[in-house]
Amino acid sequence: MHVDSQLGRVIQDEHIDAGGKPVEQVAAEARVTMEKNRICLVRGFPLDPDRYLAFLGRFGEPLTNYSSLSALEKTDPHPQINRVKYKKKVTGAQSVHYVAGGLRPHTARSWRAPRPECFAMLMVEPGWRDAPAGERGESVVLSWNDLFTRLAERDGQVFQDHFARLSGTPITFQANNVREELSSQPLLYPLDDATGPYDVGVRLKQDLRDKIEGIRDQIPEFDAYRTSLHYLLDNSDDDRFFACFPMESGDLLLLDNHRFAHGRRKIVGEYVVDGEARTNNRELWSVTVQ
Ligand SMILES: [Fe+2]
Repeated sequence: MHVDSQLGRVIQDEHIDAGGKPVEQVAAEARVTMEKNRICLVRGFPLDPDRYLAFLGRFGEPLTNYSSLSALEKTDPHPQINRVKYKKKVTGAQSVHYVAGGLRPHTARSWRAPRPECFAMLMVEPGWRDAPAGERGESVVLSWNDLFTRLAERDGQVFQDHFARLSGTPITFQANNVREELSSQPLLYPLDDATGPYDVGVRLKQDLRDKIEGIRDQIPEFDAYRTSLHYLLDNSDDDRFFACFPMESGDLLLLDNHRFAHGRRKIVGEYVVDGEARTNNRELWSVTVQ
């Protein structure tokens, strides 16, 4: 594997310990790291919805979760927390986060206007991980600035053409199960406090490769746009470019939702121990912050 070990190392080396500290102090320390790295890992955070939301409230307004806004089954621990957990038996509509496969790098509420500032994940139970690397539900994070800087170096004008097309074409798409105000920005959009030409915001939906076909009428020069989108999707899901590490129980990862994508490697949903079928009890709480 050639994952972006540098980013993964920075995130883990510069983590904050929450143990025994008041939420306000943990948030103050996390703010310093966020200002520096735009991403922050907190370890030993209490598995308590109210303290989790109190912490996130220091960074903005936690948004109401998907299932509260949709017809999906409502099993979340709090109206602002999405419970991400494998479920064995599903009838009817299924949230993408219950699928046992990997989740390609994507953006929280990629369809939404205004763009949410932050995204957070709190690992409650890492689940069954006696599987090969890449199949343990490891968390994935991707820095868009890093990716674009490396692609510019590798692909030159080919990259520049894709980057310009994706930055210059407004696009509107909907959530699968939620109705919110929709963004009409391009997939790549400028940031007020950009540090360089490739420090842009990105809004990328997990299933945009399929979804784009249904909205081709709104996109001029669609074939060229599709080629650029596939370039973005293929490279963002290439393990040479993203960081990947397992989160332990009590690990809280907070990230800038403009500048980082998040995702997950595969998990094994069902497995057999001594002839007995078991279900992976991995559980993570995610929250989007405006
Ligand atoms: Fe997500």
